[in-house]
Amino acid sequence: MKKNLWAIKGNLVWAERIGEMSTLPGGYILMEGEGIKGISAELPEEYAGNVEDYGDKIITPSFSDLHLHAPQYPMLGLGMDLQLLDWLDNYAFPTEARFEEDEFARKTYKKLASELIKRGTTRVCIFSSLHRSATNILMDELEAAGVTGYAGKVNMDRNGGINLQETTEESIDETIRWVEENSGRKLVKPMLTPRFIPSCTDELMEGLERIAAEHSELPVQSHLSENLDEIAWVKELHPDCTHYYQAYEKYGLWKPGTIMAHCVYCDEKERKAMKDAGVWAIHCPDSNTNIASGIAPVRIMLQEGVKVAMGSDIAGGAKLSMPDSATEAIRASKLRWLSSGKKEDFLTVAEAFYLITGAGQEYFGAKPGFGVGDKLHAVVLDDSNLAYNPAITLTERLERILYLFDTSSVKAVYSEGVRRV
Ligand code: GUN
Ligand code: FE
Repeated sequence: MKKNLWAIKGNLVWAERIGEMSTLPGGYILMEGEGIKGISAELPEEYAGNVEDYGDKIITPSFSDLHLHAPQYPMLGLGMDLQLLDWLDNYAFPTEARFEEDEFARKTYKKLASELIKRGTTRVCIFSSLHRSATNILMDELEAAGVTGYAGKVNMDRNGGINLQETTEESIDETIRWVEENSGRKLVKPMLTPRFIPSCTDELMEGLERIAAEHSELPVQSHLSENLDEIAWVKELHPDCTHYYQAYEKYGLWKPGTIMAHCVYCDEKERKAMKDAGVWAIHCPDSNTNIASGIAPVRIMLQEGVKVAMGSDIAGGAKLSMPDSATEAIRASKLRWLSSGKKEDFLTVAEAFYLITGAGQEYFGAKPGFGVGDKLHAVVLDDSNLAYNPAITLTERLERILYLFDTSSVKAVYSEGVRRV
């Protein structure tokens, strides 16, 4: 007799590839322990009596947020009249400086982790601040809430203002110590996080290159080609580089699994470098609009075979829910479509749904959708409080719930095979 068999039942919707949506109305996700055994229209006998039945609700893979700044959570919705470099100096850096205080970090990160999981976000790549202790607190709180993925102690040894700066030596030593302290973690793992080129001296980048070479398990996250003033500044700092990405490549950080947020102004050569190296572009449309950075060429990147996933980029982005990022991506792409003389197609709902579900699953080594053998990461969505409309299909119901999403849309969340909400 097999043990630990159970199932959840509901209207299954998932995306295995960009642009494709699959459905199984009234279907079952069959489970053994924390892992998916398969999906089925019928309930095999051995699962009888162990079914969590969500009736007419919709079950999808949970959401991934591959770029957000945890210590900017207190400034959500603030500073939106500024552009990137002024916004960093006047809002982001002073706010992040407060995370020197552990108690402030604990309180903020407990709330953030709980708000993430409530919205069905179970996987993240998240920036902390430069503070090692607060970063460990962030990792603890994410794990306690059931949010998995990578977190990064930020490296920044220049241009952070008087309250948010580390020396080159401190930055390197603290990073090594932090990586070692966290080498045993299973759910939220360390990720190298040079903030962006203007924050990191060449000596610091050389130090990170050494750490990356010694710890091949550490992926890298940073920012790339987000804003025109930023790009001009990087050119001044690295006159030998014709392209921004080369300032990461020079130090061995441009490699498979590296993720680069924004990529608003990546030209053909930079995009080809991403594709060739296996570097991922993380699209953050809400942030790109709020701090007036621009509209990233997502359609072109996808056509060219660049890997793309999505981030809320709070607090440049003001919305923590990934369905909001998906619909922002669609809106932004329509403006790009119009301003390109309708040459570049806009993103569809099915594509945006993949970018907040399947793309993140792929980044973390799971099969997009409900893959056999993967631990269950799923969200149960409730549209019963929306206007009664019996004429719509299951995929239209999903579309509507993405556009009208709020925390009351989430009935249950599973992470690593365990119900967390
Ligand atoms: N570039 C460097 N730091 C940041 C940040 O905190 N937010 C955004 N959007 N871009 C950055
Ligand atoms: Fe960012």
